[in-house]
Amino acid sequence: MKSREAVLLSAIAIPRLTSALDNGIGLKPHMGWSSWNVAQCNAASAQYALATADKFVSLGLKDLGYEYINIDDCWSTKSRDSAGRLVPDPAKWPNGVKAVTDRIHNMGLKFGLYGCAGDKTCAGYPGSEGHEKSDVAQLVSWGVDFWKYDNCYTPCRQNPRPQTCTSPAGSTKTWYAPMRDAILSVQNTRKLHFNLCNWGRDEVWTWGATYGHSWRYAIPLKKKNRMSVDNWGDWASVERIGSAAAGIHQYSGPGGFNDLDMLYLGSPKLSVDQERLHFGLWAITKSPLVLGLDLEKISNSTLTIIRNKGLIDINQDSLGRPATTFRPPGAPAPVGGKIYPYWAGPLSDGVVIGLCAGTSVGTYSVNFKDVPGLGGSGSYAWKEMYTGQTGNGAGVSFNINLHDMRVIKVTTA
Ligand code: GLA
Repeated sequence: MKSREAVLLSAIAIPRLTSALDNGIGLKPHMGWSSWNVAQCNAASAQYALATADKFVSLGLKDLGYEYINIDDCWSTKSRDSAGRLVPDPAKWPNGVKAVTDRIHNMGLKFGLYGCAGDKTCAGYPGSEGHEKSDVAQLVSWGVDFWKYDNCYTPCRQNPRPQTCTSPAGSTKTWYAPMRDAILSVQNTRKLHFNLCNWGRDEVWTWGATYGHSWRYAIPLKKKNRMSVDNWGDWASVERIGSAAAGIHQYSGPGGFNDLDMLYLGSPKLSVDQERLHFGLWAITKSPLVLGLDLEKISNSTLTIIRNKGLIDINQDSLGRPATTFRPPGAPAPVGGKIYPYWAGPLSDGVVIGLCAGTSVGTYSVNFKDVPGLGGSGSYAWKEMYTGQTGNGAGVSFNINLHDMRVIKVTTA
């Protein structure tokens, strides 16, 4: 018999909304790199973008599907020009942005930039409020493919507006809509991936698909304004963001994915075991896989993780359905904020099972009959993606180090 959760899980209809930006973009979680976790403002340069593009090719990342080179905050000068245009910082973009996008496109890759719905970006550069149409026209003229849109210095009951408003003057929808509309209006010329970064405010997962292609969320922290903070590259961040993915899986799918935030593999605060869980959980929950590290300095162990083709294939599966938690018979109930051991999700040719030693080292076992999407008494072929182990049978069992993970693909097709 299936557990109650398994029955519930398979019975859930997906309440996905039709995307207004249904333009063929974002049908799979996007994969790439972002400058922010590398060196914050200092990495928002042409030099980083081009060096990373070269590394995408030489390290084989491009062939694995890593595609977007995204420059985050601090790429422009601190003020607009006299015509109201954003100005790429000449020290960081000596030949402008277009020279870089051209080169990146010629390599078969894509290029992203960062903006903000408020009057300034989080680091204090010009925001796009009131300039949505003309800023999008600039992005189009440069050949930009991706636009991350942040939520700093947005309308606020506090005066002057603080960087991070704790008492917003309205719903974030109000200030994300004009940019969505501006992007919609250029769709026939250039299709942009619109990445909402409102930190989960206003339960963005419930409406994000009608505004963009992916949305940062984080857990509704039990704080006054129900927003959350970034991935800080430590275990607490992996735990906080990863555990929350289970509760909102049903909102995520082709054309509009929950974005668990940029990966922080390579962070000195994470062990190799923790890096495996970080990458594995982001992969099976169909989060975008956006590297946040300096590829010139990557360790062999991190490289092995980010080049795991089995995991990437699971993340990029055409079904685009995130894994979520299930509770096998006898297993303890999930604990809020902690990473539950048992995860599963459908794939176009099978089921993925995630086993996470999020809270204790030990032996983790599952019988396939207890896994949503499997069931029955069948014997299945399986493969574990980190160890490469394969087998046939009615279940699997692994000894897992604290904070490590095993990802098992069970084939049914
Ligand atoms: C916010 C976002 C981060 C990053 C910075 C840039 O904190 O959540 O991802 O873009 O702004 O200033």
